[in-house]
Amino acid sequence: MAGKIYIGEISKNEEIQEDCFLMKVKVAASFENPLPGQFVMIRIAGLNDPFLSRPISIYSFSCGENFCLIELLYRVVGKGTQIMAGLIEGSQVEIHGPLGNGFEISDVRENIVFIAGGIGIAPLSLLVENLHRRFPSSLMTLYSGAQRASSVVGLDRPQKICHDVNVCTDDGSMGEKNLVTQVFQKDMKKFSPANTSIYACGPREMLISLAKILSKSKFSCQVSLEERMACGTGACAGCAVAIKYEQGISCYKRVCADGPVFNLADIIWEY
Ligand SMILES: Cc1cc2nc3c(=O)[nH]c(=O)nc-3n(C[C@H](O)[C@H](O)[C@H](O)COP(=O)(O)OP(=O)(O)OC[C@H]3O[C@@H](n4cnc5c(N)ncnc54)[C@H](O)[C@@H]3O)c2cc1C
Ligand code: FES
Repeated sequence: MAGKIYIGEISKNEEIQEDCFLMKVKVAASFENPLPGQFVMIRIAGLNDPFLSRPISIYSFSCGENFCLIELLYRVVGKGTQIMAGLIEGSQVEIHGPLGNGFEISDVRENIVFIAGGIGIAPLSLLVENLHRRFPSSLMTLYSGAQRASSVVGLDRPQKICHDVNVCTDDGSMGEKNLVTQVFQKDMKKFSPANTSIYACGPREMLISLAKILSKSKFSCQVSLEERMACGTGACAGCAVAIKYEQGISCYKRVCADGPVFNLADIIWEY
């Protein structure tokens, strides 16, 4: 999906957890209703350094008669996100979106499992809300991992909806001291592949570990990849990942234009 470029106005940009910000951006009412898992490329209107936009998932979206409101939940990790963190109410940003394919939600099962690593909770939070509206009788379980208590974010909305929320941290400062993939693995026998859909988003290492855990099972799992991007629109191939094609043949797909959501079992991790 190509998306369009909008000039948005920041109505709020607040640090809600250590190095983690919630930004609200007003855009024109013509902004297309995004699917969970879609993202925007954001850059400061008129600023050439850094010139490249940064990809950020749509954390929530609402639309009124006069404007739409996009929420972005982001962690400060480098130059681009540092500049974003310094923006004040009223600042203008260039928003290109909605981009990417979003999660496939037509084939949802009775049990839905979400596995989030760090800021990977952002697209999953919107997905939880969307699936709850469409499939209110599904049982939802969330596994959410972070480095430490001060980096746990984005649980407030899923917590109101999910039947079971399992939080873990690397240092044990909140929830179980464990990796999120290990916590899920211990619980795996509670779910059956026939009636469980799994959705995950998080750092590459987490997704590689999840791929290994699920490799000998029949669970279907969709993941949203957080690859580095340049153009964000499919033009530069800078975000290509190897994907299993057919009969042992692989091909390259662009995370921005063909993803960011893929079936976990199709991804060839180049270790
Ligand atoms: C589809 C998609 C959705 C995303 N959604 C979100 C979101 O909702 N919230 C959020 O906080 N982040 C999200 N990201 C990641 C975000 O785009 C990067 O953190 C951001 O581009 C970093 O820009 P920077 O200029 O601050 O960091 P840079 O100066 O470019 O890099 C600083 C450090 O961060 C690392 N880094 C940069 N980009 C990434 C990346 N994509 N993945 C892992 N490490 C990276 C670099 O290796 C470097 O160590 C998403 C990425 C993608 C592709
Ligand atoms: S970032 Fe350019 S093709 Fe994906």
